[in-house]
Amino acid sequence: MSTAAVFSLDAWSRTQLSLVEDALSAWVTADALPGRAWGAPADLVQAMRYAVLDGGKRLRPLLVMAAFEAVAVPGAFAARNAALRAACAVELIHAYSLVHDDMPCMDNDVLRRGKPTVHVQFGEAAALLAGDALQALAFELLTPADAEVPLALQGRLCGLLARAAGSTGMAGGQAIDLASVAHALDEQALRHMHQLKTGALLQASVMLGAACGMADEQAQQALSRFGQALGLAFQVVDDVLDVTADSATLGKTAGKDADHDKPTYVSLMGLERSRRYAQDLRDQAHAALAESALPQTAALAALADMVVHRRH
Ligand code: IPE
Ligand code: IPE
Ligand code: MG
Ligand code: MG
Ligand code: MG
Repeated sequence: MSTAAVFSLDAWSRTQLSLVEDALSAWVTADALPGRAWGAPADLVQAMRYAVLDGGKRLRPLLVMAAFEAVAVPGAFAARNAALRAACAVELIHAYSLVHDDMPCMDNDVLRRGKPTVHVQFGEAAALLAGDALQALAFELLTPADAEVPLALQGRLCGLLARAAGSTGMAGGQAIDLASVAHALDEQALRHMHQLKTGALLQASVMLGAACGMADEQAQQALSRFGQALGLAFQVVDDVLDVTADSATLGKTAGKDADHDKPTYVSLMGLERSRRYAQDLRDQAHAALAESALPQTAALAALADMVVHRRH
């Protein structure tokens, strides 16, 4: 029996997520953290914690940890700590992107992770500021004052995350998304939008984990292709679930893409072709893993399957 056949994603995820949840709860705090002169306003932190804790699949942190495991040198505890920081940092960027994505000026959504959205619960100004502060906190986590992460690695992690979050990544993709309402995009333009708004941060999650370990050039390029295929597959499935799942299962409002006249894979190629395309992308992700020649890729492979087969 192969290693992949006996690998339990549930058991592996439980272990990783208990570390990630504890770290997120400790770092999104009103207390004065190391390197901070004072604590943060309690109301702002309340909105930040509401946005980050108690919900979400935590796919991005899991990808960071899985990529780190794929390239890790056994016993490298300092590197594992850096990977945990990167895992939390990318989730903070993701949580901030959701807070802003839901605001009335963007998708105007009232439900997220099974709860009222942040602007519904705390008001628009609080939602805007919570998102801003979560983004900054992500980079604070990557640059610990006590140098427990080597400076060169800090710089590399910050660069990867900044490029994936900014105008050539998530924020750029969100701008294209808003500008494309009521426009029928062709496949190339739709792929570009999805790769930026969602794919970039997922691909960066893989590369952040890889950066914390030791990966040769061949492995890094293969992991980059893996992350690209998985990232696009994720948003294709998000488009499919918006049509096929209900709001209670999703924890967010179903059917809103059509209501808002957004171009999606479903509007471009229909449900069946979109599902097949997601499977093709999953196969591409698996092929890239095989090309990486890395021995420990069971978690990454299982996460690629989860992305395509998930129900929410
Ligand atoms: C939803 O992402 C927003 C997109 C990028 C499509 P997720 O489906 O990963 O949301 P959570 O983190 O599980 O809530
Ligand atoms: C949002 O895409 C991607 C982000 C950068 C947050 P969607 O607008 O499709 O995400 P959902 O469906 O609201 O989660
Ligand atoms: Mg949106
Ligand atoms: Mg949205
Ligand atoms: Mg969506």
